[in-house]
Amino acid sequence: TLKALSPQDLAGKKVLITLGPTREPWDAVRFWSNPSSGTMGACMAMAAHLRGAEVTVVSGPTNLTFPAGISQVSVQTARQMFDACTDLWPTMDMGCLTAAVADYRPVPFGDTKFKKQTSAGAGITVEFETNPDILKKLGEDKKDGQKLIGFAAETDNLKEEAVRKLEAKNLDLIAANDIGKPGSGFGVPTNQMVVLDKSGRVETWPQLAKTEVAWRLWDHLLLG
Ligand code: CTP
Ligand code: CA
Repeated sequence: TLKALSPQDLAGKKVLITLGPTREPWDAVRFWSNPSSGTMGACMAMAAHLRGAEVTVVSGPTNLTFPAGISQVSVQTARQMFDACTDLWPTMDMGCLTAAVADYRPVPFGDTKFKKQTSAGAGITVEFETNPDILKKLGEDKKDGQKLIGFAAETDNLKEEAVRKLEAKNLDLIAANDIGKPGSGFGVPTNQMVVLDKSGRVETWPQLAKTEVAWRLWDHLLLG
């Protein structure tokens, strides 16, 4: 099998992955979300699994399924993802948070369907409240020996923002991509990453298949 052919350098390690979007309900039929497909996280999960890790995926709404041997916890909202992750984190050796978590959620309208307003042409205003930052919380709670990988999706000031997030969230490694570039980000099978680590190393990688990005990120974390 593929697994038998892979290095088992994550054997005995428990790895937490978040992936996909979160979905924040507004009324009975509408929600706030983003186009994340969960591909990057699925690649991180599969690579870790093949390298011998015991992988738990906390997944927002996606179409992804995983082989037996990867456990999957399905959630909808950022707060549900936060609860699942904070429960699991103390038992984990590594975390890799790829999910495109909604930073804000609409203040709920309620359990019924919002009706179109009859005053012609008048728009509506929806208010938002702040969601918890899952990665930041896991970084704050990180114990000696635990390793944490974050991602950063940027349209501007890529490196500066990646450095800021690496420090602010107490990460070991951050992989940043320019979501404005065609071969990077949402819904494409490739990514072009800038990878920074705690030791100050900065690497700019070529555009690669997300499967290969995932393999190299585990290499980087394990081998430096
Ligand atoms: N993240 C998270 N929980 C949140 C927001 C983000 O766990 N509520 C994680 C993402 O999974 C990613 C990293 O934090 O690994 C960075 O996400 P990103 O959206 O790029 O950064 P933010 O800190 O949310 O800042 P901004 O959106 O303003 O760039
Ligand atoms: Ca964000």
